[in-house]
Amino acid sequence: MPDDFCEACAPPPHDPVRMAKSADPCILVIFGATGDLTGRKLVPALYNLGLDQLLPTKFACVGFARREKTDEEFRNELKEDVNSHSRVRPVDEEFWEQFQQKIYYHRSEFDDDAGYEALAKKLNELDQKLGTKGNRVYYLSVQPKFFAPITEKLKQHNLIYDVHTEKDRYSRVIIEKPFGHDYLSADALQADIAKHLDESQVYRIDHYLGKETVQNLLVFRFANSIFESLWNYKHVDHVQITVAEDLGIGTRGHFFDEVGLLRDIVQNHMMQLLSLVAMEPPVNLSANAIRDEKVKVLQSIRPFSQEDFEQSVVRGQYTAGSAHGESVPGYREEKDVNAKSTVETFVAMRLFVDNWRWAGVPFYLRAGKRLAKRSTEIAITFKDAPGVLFQHGKQRNCPNVLAIRIQPDEGISMRMNCKVPGPSIPIQAVKMDFRYGSYFGKTPPEAYERLIRECMVGDSTLFARSDEVAESWKIFTPLLQHWDTHTPATLPTYAAGSWGPKVADELMEKDGRRWRMLSL
Ligand code: BG6
Repeated sequence: MPDDFCEACAPPPHDPVRMAKSADPCILVIFGATGDLTGRKLVPALYNLGLDQLLPTKFACVGFARREKTDEEFRNELKEDVNSHSRVRPVDEEFWEQFQQKIYYHRSEFDDDAGYEALAKKLNELDQKLGTKGNRVYYLSVQPKFFAPITEKLKQHNLIYDVHTEKDRYSRVIIEKPFGHDYLSADALQADIAKHLDESQVYRIDHYLGKETVQNLLVFRFANSIFESLWNYKHVDHVQITVAEDLGIGTRGHFFDEVGLLRDIVQNHMMQLLSLVAMEPPVNLSANAIRDEKVKVLQSIRPFSQEDFEQSVVRGQYTAGSAHGESVPGYREEKDVNAKSTVETFVAMRLFVDNWRWAGVPFYLRAGKRLAKRSTEIAITFKDAPGVLFQHGKQRNCPNVLAIRIQPDEGISMRMNCKVPGPSIPIQAVKMDFRYGSYFGKTPPEAYERLIRECMVGDSTLFARSDEVAESWKIFTPLLQHWDTHTPATLPTYAAGSWGPKVADELMEKDGRRWRMLSL
């Protein structure tokens, strides 16, 4: 143990995996089991949970979808998916052999009563065979229009239990995003599913909450006294949150051209990051205590005024350029995208959290597809130290910046000023850098691993509560409505592989600030 560690702060004596809460026996039913998400994320996550001994020992996964398929065919397809997408690769043949026996396939339409009756029968048989005790997790990896009809059918066929009368077994439903496309639609969807489900049974996924570095935000903020005491308007100049992707929209042209970047990334993932950065300490670590504080942040965000629509928000669309050294098409040339599309692939904005802690501190958000680099980062820029002592010509002390790298290269760095060795006092900004990978020596689990397991153990902290979703839509719905009627024939453009449109830089320059350069 290094000298400066006391017993309390030494590495935990037990393997964190062993310390994890144990999950009760259960069956996970995936609706939309032949879709992309199942193969790319969900089954690889289950496989890794299995390898790490984090699945219940009595467990089964049933894929529910409309295509004709045998268990055997389903298992073989999933094996290929795991081979391509699992965190741990290639597939361990011996482990796969026993793991695949827990996977089944069930063919049905989403609205077919006979299909749900057959499902109920199959699940009961599996309970008998495997000892899964009637516990169920339903994962709705389907188009949003099926969320309400599926929950209705599950309830009708007694596959969802009444939380007040059934205490010995549970039924939980994981709902993929998007949860609505604006405030009213989210509200209507919530009203529909609330007819069949108690809020404690609903697990709304925002996979950013499953990222290890996002979870670390709470520990970082509330287990370190030095930062928490500076975390307010007295010391913070501004906050920048960046979610940059180097990828384009791939094969999701249809989806993206209806949705756009604000709904795809900002309304959900970025608002989660912002809430965690800005929230007050919760009274305890229960799911509701944490989510209560996050909701208060969203409620404190200053609504956009008419002027803000033009002055505080900018959007853009990528044109042809390059990615990883290869030429790539512009957004309008992408497959399944309208050739005259005015859907945004980039958004930048300035928000204010009008509460005591953050009075007057701007939060700048930028997110985009086909930017120069994949990088998600939260940067807290502190106010300048008085510049009276170390100003030489153009040279002066730089503000301290605490950068929390969510991905890739997960870690935390602090920029500070240092004297360059030598006879005079030239100063230079240097970086103190903590990297998860090199410190802990292992890759963190994938977000979906964490989230599926949290649902199995019944902890909803890492899922969005209905009021969080509603508050976030309340912020952005007026903006979306404004865009509906105020969109030019062509949005400001940026070349694929750049850092976004010029208007985004101007947004910062007006405030005398700059976006952080995220090194390539
Ligand atoms: C999804 C969006 O929610 O998040 C995608 O629909 C986006 O468009 C993805 O690419 C980004 O996730 P990550 O984990 O790669 O940052």
